[in-house]
Amino acid sequence: MKYEEIFARSFSRHDQKRFKLGASLACFVVLWFMCTVFKPYLRILPVSNLRLIKTNNSNRHKYKTSNETQTLHLLPPKLSKNREAERTTLICNTSKSRCDVCEMKGDIRIQGNSSTIFVFSSLTGNSSMTIKPYARKSDKSAMESITTFTIKSIQEEGETMLKCTKIHNVPAIVFSVGGYARNNFHAFSDVIIPLYATSRDFNREVKFLVTNHRSGWTSKFQELLQELSRYEIIDIDHENEVNCFPSVVVGLEKEDRKELDIKSMKDFTLFLRSSYSLERFTAINLTNSLTKKPRLLIVSRQKTRAFMNIKELVHAAQEFGFEVTVTEMNANLTHVSRLVNSCDVMMGVHGAGLTNMVFLPENGVLIQVVPWGKMDWLANTYFGDPSKVMGLKYLEYKISQGESTLVDQYPLNHQVLVDPFSIQRKGWGAYKSIYLDKQNVMLNITRFKETLSRSLELLHS
Ligand SMILES: *[C@@H]1O[C@H](CO)[C@@H](O)[C@H](O)[C@H]1NC(C)=O
Ligand SMILES: *[C@@H]1O[C@H](CO)[C@@H](O)[C@H](O)[C@H]1NC(C)=O
Ligand SMILES: *[C@@H]1O[C@H](CO)[C@@H](O)[C@H](O)[C@H]1NC(C)=O
Ligand SMILES: *[C@@H]1O[C@H](CO)[C@@H](O)[C@H](O)[C@H]1NC(C)=O
Ligand SMILES: *[C@@H]1O[C@H](CO)[C@@H](O)[C@H](O)[C@H]1NC(C)=O
Ligand SMILES: *[C@@H]1O[C@H](CO)[C@@H](O)[C@H](O)[C@H]1NC(C)=O
Ligand SMILES: *[C@@H]1O[C@H](CO)[C@@H](O)[C@H](O)[C@H]1NC(C)=O
Ligand SMILES: *[C@@H]1O[C@H](CO)[C@@H](O)[C@H](O)[C@H]1NC(C)=O
Repeated sequence: MKYEEIFARSFSRHDQKRFKLGASLACFVVLWFMCTVFKPYLRILPVSNLRLIKTNNSNRHKYKTSNETQTLHLLPPKLSKNREAERTTLICNTSKSRCDVCEMKGDIRIQGNSSTIFVFSSLTGNSSMTIKPYARKSDKSAMESITTFTIKSIQEEGETMLKCTKIHNVPAIVFSVGGYARNNFHAFSDVIIPLYATSRDFNREVKFLVTNHRSGWTSKFQELLQELSRYEIIDIDHENEVNCFPSVVVGLEKEDRKELDIKSMKDFTLFLRSSYSLERFTAINLTNSLTKKPRLLIVSRQKTRAFMNIKELVHAAQEFGFEVTVTEMNANLTHVSRLVNSCDVMMGVHGAGLTNMVFLPENGVLIQVVPWGKMDWLANTYFGDPSKVMGLKYLEYKISQGESTLVDQYPLNHQVLVDPFSIQRKGWGAYKSIYLDKQNVMLNITRFKETLSRSLELLHS
């Protein structure tokens, strides 16, 4: 799992301040860069482009540059001979927190194999900008591997124009499934949720142009992708045609939200249930269900952060009246979503497998077992807070030092056990290699029973 960006912020207040300072510096640099790159064009906005427009179209007043939002409205209305009302627009919003987004309408031609998007208009000068369509823009190591798209606005020049070889009459959305998207948590937080927010208004009448494409990724999420677009996915990096669209969105971000969050989370979970034909909308209500047993799903892990005494755990849960299933999460989401949806309580050690809580029925309970190492911030940001937004009940079980297998690997007075913050300060790599990669969990069943009992109480209320 990769946490660099978030983790960096979990350090000290001091570090956070430095981060904020860095962020404002970055904004400043972006602004400066924009101004430099677009100077030739910005100079003629907004006044002189109005002169270019011969018709008196009241819409033209909408086009302006706003130094407040750093939003660039590059192109004035395009008034083609036949359709006066038709407009060419290119709007890039670089002030969004997670992803830059460019939206364009008009005559758009995409040369996939060179990652270049051309917007033709007779009314503009030439200008260009670059964009990486992945929603984790302040995380350098995530963004490194993301394809950079160049968006060029080009003055129409008759014959010199790139010829369309494939003409599409529906809009397109360009996004990346690279970065951290291999990880289940990031697949949802960085791609699926932002994609849902960006695409659902199109009612499936939109084509997905995927960069950094991996067939494993798109087949894993095919049910969701098909629910959002009724067209085949286009692997844009390997496209040797000139694909032309009437409108294109590059990048994914509708909302500035926290991890795994969206304003309409209710709609999102409904969307998941309909994509995978899940039956249960709410978890069992133990107050009026005397015969049925509540179901507990224990998410096990094999390689790291494994439960060492899973048999004891299962036994204890059964004594509490749970019907217990133990599973390691795999990539078959049809299977995983049904299994999770059939349960009322899901528990597991902090890790990407817990992302599957998105399939739990409402009022279900998530129990996150938090390993040794001052991991509270990660635990909350990744799963604690999001679970509440999803209408789930959340319980956290922080293990004590004695329940960590790190005590078998380090002397009791070692800083790994005594002062995890000192390891955090050495950086993410050092921290991860110990607390996430070398640690297993031997639950104190006596102590854990309290959490199990609270989960039952929650199913009663
Ligand atoms: C704009 O068009 C309207 C009719 O559509 C006309 O009455 C008006 O005089 C025009 N204004 C200018 C400045 O040409
Ligand atoms: C844009 O900047 C100019 C000059 O710096 C300033 O006068 C104007 O108020 C600013 N506009 C907005 C919307 O902030
Ligand atoms: C650009 O994005 C920011 C953050 O989401 C938003 O507040 C702002 O209104 C957007 N600007 C425009 C012109 O859409
Ligand atoms: C804009 O770019 C096109 C294509 O590269 C070129 O043919 C044209 O001369 C350029 N126009 C201006 C005003 O620079
Ligand atoms: C890239 O695509 C263009 C068409 O847009 C094609 O002419 C060209 O041969 C392609 N380049 C390669 C290296 O395949
Ligand atoms: C569970 O059932 C009881 C009794 O019918 C009811 O009062 C309570 O509101 C129900 N709880 C939920 C969360 O639906
Ligand atoms: C995924 O799981 C479903 C339901 O359990 C099963 O029918 C399907 O064959 C599985 N697909 C793959 C590729 O294993
Ligand atoms: C397990 O937890 C119980 C209750 O918190 C505590 O009394 C007991 O000492 C713990 N056992 C071990 C081996 O730490």
